[in-house]
Amino acid sequence: MSSIPGSVDPNLLLGLDAPDDAAVYRITDEIAIVQTVDFFTPVVDDPFQWGAIAAANALSDIYAMGARPVTALNLVAWPKELDMDLLYEVLAGGAEKAREAGVSIVGGHTIDDEEPKYGMSVTGLVPPGAVVTSSGATAGLDVILTKPLGMGIVSTAIKAAKAPAELAAEATAIMSTLNRAASEAMVEVGVAAATDVTGFGLIGHFHQLLKASGVAGILHAERVPVLSGARELAAEGLVPGGTQRNRSHFSEVVSFPSSVDEVDRIVLFDAQTSGGLLIAVEPSKTQRLLDRLSERSVEATAIGRTVDGVPGSIEVE
Ligand code: CO
Ligand code: CO
Repeated sequence: MSSIPGSVDPNLLLGLDAPDDAAVYRITDEIAIVQTVDFFTPVVDDPFQWGAIAAANALSDIYAMGARPVTALNLVAWPKELDMDLLYEVLAGGAEKAREAGVSIVGGHTIDDEEPKYGMSVTGLVPPGAVVTSSGATAGLDVILTKPLGMGIVSTAIKAAKAPAELAAEATAIMSTLNRAASEAMVEVGVAAATDVTGFGLIGHFHQLLKASGVAGILHAERVPVLSGARELAAEGLVPGGTQRNRSHFSEVVSFPSSVDEVDRIVLFDAQTSGGLLIAVEPSKTQRLLDRLSERSVEATAIGRTVDGVPGSIEVE
């Protein structure tokens, strides 16, 4: 869309020319609406859980902006041959997540398709001055991640019927966890920049945040939380196509020391579904942020920092 002329409306605070998770439109000086849409094919076998994950993933872009989601529209593509009871389960999973988030589902649209797809268009609210963007980082900040990596690898293993049941259940629980608590902690403390880690993986989304902010980054590979068991599955070759594409696309922006092995690199590029928030925060506020996250049962880790350098470049240590 970058070559298509955008909007000239002065109330559009963040639109197509900003690399953010959602668009922001000012209604008054006190309130802006935040809009995003996301949908995808099944990532787990259980239809209810898939619905919950798709909803949590769609809501995440609102949370990444420091906003509060209020309404959602369902988006459904469904094969005629597939049982409608399964669709009921998908929608029930999405509805339960929406209820947990305090979001009203107010409509939607369904089409016939060869492959099932589900997601939501979500609208949120935020005071215009409180929007958290991906472009607000400066050099010298700590970088925090609020969910472990490896979800793409585990989803691929689930599809190949090679994921241990316990690991599949853990990944499902993490993917369906709302980023609400992480967002509320980040808003309470006040942070410089944030985004959520989804299809482009940790490296891709970190790169986008750094580039938008005009700074470089350091990533401490050994501190990055990874679902236990995901490395073993990656070593067996259970790597999603999206992860491989991320690797070829983002390899030029990242430098690895030889001590970071092949499997660890794959994990850092792994395409996530409903991943955690990636937050850049002043070092003086880091402990307070980690405390606020921990009080809300969010397992967050400081995984790197921002530095002066080629905008968007990442040095793995
Ligand atoms: Co996002
Ligand atoms: Co999105």
